[in-house]
Amino acid sequence: MRLSLTKQLLKSLSLVLLSAVLPASAAPGRSASNVERRATVCNGHAELCEKSFGSVTFVGAHDSYAIGNSNGNFAVNQDQSITTQLNDGVRMLQMQAHNQNGEIKLCHTDCSLYDGGTLHDYLATVGDWLNANPNEVLALLIVNIDNVPVAQYDPIFKAVGLDVHSFVPSSVPIPAASWPTLGSMIDSGQRLVTFMDNKADGSVPYILDEFTHIWETAFDVTDPAFDCNINRTSSNVDPAGTMYLINHFLDKTVLGNPVPFVEKLNVTNAASGDGSLGAQVDTCMAQHSKPPNFMLVDFYEFGGGSVFEVAARINNVQFDPSHPVASPVPSGASPSSTAQTTSRPLNSNALSDFGVFSYKMVLPLFSAITGAVLGPYLLFL
Ligand SMILES: *[C@@H]1O[C@H](CO)[C@@H](O)[C@H](O)[C@H]1NC(C)=O
Ligand SMILES: *[C@@H]1O[C@H](CO)[C@@H](O)[C@H](O)[C@H]1NC(C)=O
Repeated sequence: MRLSLTKQLLKSLSLVLLSAVLPASAAPGRSASNVERRATVCNGHAELCEKSFGSVTFVGAHDSYAIGNSNGNFAVNQDQSITTQLNDGVRMLQMQAHNQNGEIKLCHTDCSLYDGGTLHDYLATVGDWLNANPNEVLALLIVNIDNVPVAQYDPIFKAVGLDVHSFVPSSVPIPAASWPTLGSMIDSGQRLVTFMDNKADGSVPYILDEFTHIWETAFDVTDPAFDCNINRTSSNVDPAGTMYLINHFLDKTVLGNPVPFVEKLNVTNAASGDGSLGAQVDTCMAQHSKPPNFMLVDFYEFGGGSVFEVAARINNVQFDPSHPVASPVPSGASPSSTAQTTSRPLNSNALSDFGVFSYKMVLPLFSAITGAVLGPYLLFL
């Protein structure tokens, strides 16, 4: 009896030791499929292991790379580093890719307005995080605004080892109901799903065409009612059978250009109430009889975790209010130095990129009319 107990103990101990070594030796990615892995917790919850990727709701960071102070910089949509976004629970990273002299960079509208660094450096950060968090499924959404051929993305993913983490479907498009479970994606090591809004022609098998898989609601809206109408989709699919994404970030108009409505963030990101994320989800449920798969928000940590509370409610898992969520960067302070991107305030060359006219020409008029209202922002120009 005692002997077998000791044996049992030794066996469990060796299993514990083995599992402590395994993640390191089995990584990265695809080689892990040789090892019998059975994820028991997926994206933080045991229940999600059995759920299809197509029926889980993920919080997404709109313009995840455009990091700066929410108070005073019109060109930013987040104020936490990519690593903090991921640690806090963001599971879709949206980004805008630009062709800057042959290099793919993450910029906002234009690289002279906001230069978020190279796609290579950004993806390296994502790869480090995936390696450190083997039980997490993550989605990327690339807005390929300069129509860069998808083949030019392939070497960048490969250089940072993200190809081995990438989910490769056996055929496309994948209807919402046909996605594998999070558990099987984690077990196979293929737990990064990358969507691209255009040019994803299948030649790079792990970069999936967005609109045959996901339809979107309108973006850059200024009406806090946030409708749930199908705004962008592909004519090649019936949107009823695909996943969908809500663009839940509220803008206001400055000089004819949409910029984040920072003062309303706590309301916009809230779990319930008029104009909230929770309210838009309810609108969507009523209209489409299924919840959104992806919810893109600005400055996700405003609300103190409320956006994750909404996701937990949809996913029918327990929301853990004690899970740490970053605090908004105080007005005037610089975002954390762990940010992988170079963040800089809007400069005098920058604002012209928002509009059709030169910033210098309109500055005196602009200041006179809007100075009183926008005073705090102008401090940063
Ligand atoms: C998408 O939304 C925008 C902004 O609300 C609107 O102007 C446009 O007409 C919509 N397009 C479609 C196809 O619904
Ligand atoms: C949002 O709420 C937090 C916490 O209650 C508060 O510190 C912050 O000032 C609020 N921000 C805005 C823009 O209302």
